[in-house]
Amino acid sequence: MVSKILSGMRPTGRLHIGHLVGALNNWVDLQRKYDSYYFVADWHAITTMTDTKNIKQDSFEMVKDWLAAGIDPEKSNLFIQSQVPQHAELHLIFSMLNTLPRLERVPSFKGLMQHLLDIKDAEAELTPEQIADVRSKISYGFLGYPVLQSADILIYKADGIPVGEDQIPHIELTREIARKFNSLYGEVFPEPEPLLTNTPRILGTDGRKMSKSYGNAIHPTDSLEVITQKVMSMITDPDRKRRYDAGDPRVCSVYDLHLAYNNDDRQIEIFKACTCAGIGCVDCKKEAAQKIADKYRGYAERREQFKERDIREILMDGSSTARQEASQTIKQVKEHLLFDY
Ligand code: TRP
Ligand code: SF4
Repeated sequence: MVSKILSGMRPTGRLHIGHLVGALNNWVDLQRKYDSYYFVADWHAITTMTDTKNIKQDSFEMVKDWLAAGIDPEKSNLFIQSQVPQHAELHLIFSMLNTLPRLERVPSFKGLMQHLLDIKDAEAELTPEQIADVRSKISYGFLGYPVLQSADILIYKADGIPVGEDQIPHIELTREIARKFNSLYGEVFPEPEPLLTNTPRILGTDGRKMSKSYGNAIHPTDSLEVITQKVMSMITDPDRKRRYDAGDPRVCSVYDLHLAYNNDDRQIEIFKACTCAGIGCVDCKKEAAQKIADKYRGYAERREQFKERDIREILMDGSSTARQEASQTIKQVKEHLLFDY
């Protein structure tokens, strides 16, 4: 039985609808049922970049989106990772419990190597030369990324982790670390489980992963005109060339927008209409754009209501609660390690 929820996001600035559908909606639902902790993973952000000049602004802008999307600071505890130094202390202890090859096998590590080498095929094996070349560009801290993530989770003994599919290997490592610690020093940590959303992942307008850096994102603050223009530019079923060709919604990312934003009955109707050429892509896209705009009516105004001062206060209060909670765990960990001077 899950009782405590925790999740974090690296400070990316304003959120797009991919974040909202993929993560935030889940967070908002869960906060009603569970003790919830949501945080800005600013230490994680610096594992891949050294330029911190926008980090504070990006953190605040992101949290503004959390609040506009329905995260309620009365229900959820919101905080900043670096304001809770106990994460780092637990990370240090956990970093003794992993072997180097185990960490190098984590998909995000291999993924970064491939990214730095500009390799597109995720299945590709790297040659020893490539590995030698790329290792010289990756920090010690990045290797420990999932270990820090394990500390983020276990410092609160959280047992339900709302994340996307790509994070499952990190939760698996967290479980391993919990087991390892418990077996070496005695039972302290639960083994958390991932809580996935059932909405499909929304792709960007160019068919790639939605991302600010690709310029393919739709934002909840976009006007109906802008959303329509963006949705119109999306690629549909590539085999549906003419209006009277039947389409396959299962391979169309516009249909994913309907799954995320339209009601169940209409989803079924559109599915059927598409497969018998009863609806054209232009109408289908216009409807999807309209649904997105409807969903975020009032969002921009809501977002602007929150001033930097309010956000800071919420985050500082939350960080203080988090520190109290985290220091309990550290105390217990030290007792188990017999570091009880
Ligand atoms: N790695 C997560 C991501 O990139 C962010 C994250 C850091 C996180 N610490 C976490 C998520 C702890 C869940 C729990 O999305
Ligand atoms: Fe996609 Fe809609 Fe066109 Fe079908 S009708 S291919 S779901 S845009």
